[in-house]
Amino acid sequence: MINIKPFVCAEGDFSIDVADFLIRQANSALIERGVFKLVLSGGRTPVGIFDELVIRQEEVEWSKVELFWLDERCVPVDSDQSNFGNCKRSLINRLKVKPKYFPMYHSGKTEACANEYERVLRACCESEEFPQFDLILLGVGVDGHVASIFPNSGALNEVKRWVVSSVAPVAPLERITLTFPVINAAKNIVIIAKGKEKKWVFDAFYSEKIDKMIPVNGIERKKNIHWFLGEELK
Ligand code: 6PG
Repeated sequence: MINIKPFVCAEGDFSIDVADFLIRQANSALIERGVFKLVLSGGRTPVGIFDELVIRQEEVEWSKVELFWLDERCVPVDSDQSNFGNCKRSLINRLKVKPKYFPMYHSGKTEACANEYERVLRACCESEEFPQFDLILLGVGVDGHVASIFPNSGALNEVKRWVVSSVAPVAPLERITLTFPVINAAKNIVIIAKGKEKKWVFDAFYSEKIDKMIPVNGIERKKNIHWFLGEELK
């Protein structure tokens, strides 16, 4: 049962509101555990949020933050399609104090990179079954996808592996993605959505009838889900 009402941001405040929540969550984790393991989404929506985090960078002890990726396109880091590359340019390079960061893709075969990232995660996260990240930031696609788990994708039903390869319906086709068991194990899940074309995805998530064919519905409904919506989605 979701008991956190979605937060509809006032016009122009979306990135400010999400960044503010991330900063508060980071500081709470740093006080409690001395580390903040943050999984970042790809796509365009997070870039404005990165700008706000740069503006307020003094408020977080970045040396104790560990950045991971929710998914990645198998393209060179200097491509503007690279989720890590965009975060490196928009956030990491602009922070005076650097976080630890673990990119998903360097080069080579997609499946081998997915297996390698799972090995990296197992080394970083002392966990037997699934890693428990402090916060996963997650965008949604207009087709209802999350991460790089697309409609009719085999990744929809993965229950054992932490990281798998996937094929997107649009270029770049080759992707790597965390799986739902990992997403659902997170302490906090922040879902970000802007644009009227995504309203149906949000409505599908909150509808009584859960259509499992819509990837966003692979996210378990539980207390720690925080939706941040652009003002056009009210
Ligand atoms: C990706 C993302 C993907 C993204 C959504 C929304 O690699 O594309 O991780 O899941 O979050 O497609 O993308 P926008 O933020 O660009 O709308």
